[in-house]
Amino acid sequence: MQKVVLTGYMGSGKSVVAAQLAQKLHCDWIDLDQEIEKVAGISIAKLFESKGELYFRKLEHELFIQLLASSESLIISTGGGTPCYYNNHQLLQQTDVASFYLKAAIPTLVSRLQSERSKRPLLANLTEVDLEEYIAKHLFDRNFYYLQSKFVITVDEKTVEQIADEIIGRL
Ligand code: S3P
Repeated sequence: MQKVVLTGYMGSGKSVVAAQLAQKLHCDWIDLDQEIEKVAGISIAKLFESKGELYFRKLEHELFIQLLASSESLIISTGGGTPCYYNNHQLLQQTDVASFYLKAAIPTLVSRLQSERSKRPLLANLTEVDLEEYIAKHLFDRNFYYLQSKFVITVDEKTVEQIADEIIGRL
């Protein structure tokens, strides 16, 4: 099998869907954020704080390239910003990569992310009121990059299993 790469905004369900896919396809799954934390030895939040976002983006890019270059079949859940830096969005188009953009509507993202802001450095300082406006603008800016994925799967009101099955149907 090829690499299956899941992209999408924070809160779109990339990691839970990847875990379900790994189970169904009997395939290894690597979460890029977890991999970064493993290599850096600290949490993403601490990494942003101590080294800054650019350092994080460089590490994210390097690890993404390494994972795509490995010979094994792999499911990769990316971070919400992965496709938007360096040439990562072009890597989503590689022939051995099946890339899927998990597209969630703004209200879905707002309701999922409201209680999870502290885990995400880009959202940590936003008030509940500012969150919707921030996500709407951020999503608009990032849309171009997410849409470089080969397939778009809408995720609102679907179960994790339905989303995983839809992805498997496109492989
Ligand atoms: C980020 C998303 C996060 C993590 C980091 C930056 C982003 O991953 O990589 O906090 O720029 O959207 P999740 O999408 O898994 O939350």
